[in-house]
Amino acid sequence: MDERETRSRVRKDYGSIALNVLQGSPASCCGSSSCCTSTPISTGLYGQEAAAVLPQELLTQSLGCGNPLALEQLQPGEIVLDLGCGGGLDTLLAAHRVGPSGRAYGLDMTLEMLRLAQRNRDRVGLAQVYFLAGELEALPLASNTIDCVISNCVFNLSPNKSKALAEAYRVLKPGGRLAISDILRLRPIPERLRQNPQLWSACLAGAMAVDELQELLAHLGFIDRQVQIIRTYQTAELDAIFQAAGLSEQDVAEFDGEFFASAFIRAVKPA
Ligand SMILES: C[S@@+](CC[C@H](N)C(=O)[O-])C[C@H]1O[C@@H](n2cnc3c(N)ncnc32)[C@H](O)[C@@H]1O
Repeated sequence: MDERETRSRVRKDYGSIALNVLQGSPASCCGSSSCCTSTPISTGLYGQEAAAVLPQELLTQSLGCGNPLALEQLQPGEIVLDLGCGGGLDTLLAAHRVGPSGRAYGLDMTLEMLRLAQRNRDRVGLAQVYFLAGELEALPLASNTIDCVISNCVFNLSPNKSKALAEAYRVLKPGGRLAISDILRLRPIPERLRQNPQLWSACLAGAMAVDELQELLAHLGFIDRQVQIIRTYQTAELDAIFQAAGLSEQDVAEFDGEFFASAFIRAVKPA
């Protein structure tokens, strides 16, 4: 798949997930089927703070792989950007933390997801939230304007991760923070499986290696870089995703042992 094909496949798959939720079905990382709702990646990510701010029904819409706000201090009045906001859960949580004097932007390239996010915002009733249509690789925001960039399980989906991270760096203010959750790979993925579109949309095939991510962050000029693995997955735990992607037994055997992990990634743009 080239960059254009990857982006349009991801947009189509997440568009149908959003439409399902808008029509009352559960969120799932496998498009129109609900095969992945029981996988461990997107379940149990949020604690009491989130439950106090968002209705339980919204929390079950998470398609994330962590909680980027769990370790990040946001201050009242700050400006936050949530990249690949999906249904906007992290955007809304960030908006709650920065308060009415702050601002939270949620950006997504999938228009159906933005409709869902807007519906969720209206339901929660927070005013300081703005949803924007756009791509990670060409952010529609001015340079040096954001205090904190957050993102939950999205960079792995980007077909051009260096451009996406460069854009995050560009929009951050000097001293601004990057705080993202993402899936990383612990070993190389065979090329034919890296090209599997369903496995890409399910946040696995496009996962970066820890070293690759560290090098990219350093190359772009980020300082205080931390990549913390918070959970590794056994092959069996991801079986529903592998089945949905049409992987043969032989393909699944390539992912034997601990292959994928959720990580918390933090870095700072120098002041
Ligand atoms: C796995 S979902 C995560 C959604 C949300 N962050 C959450 O935690 O529930 C990925 C989201 O990123 C969006 N996305 C993927 N690649 C993108 C890109 N290159 N630019 C903008 N949005 C993108 C998709 O449309 C989808 O809504």
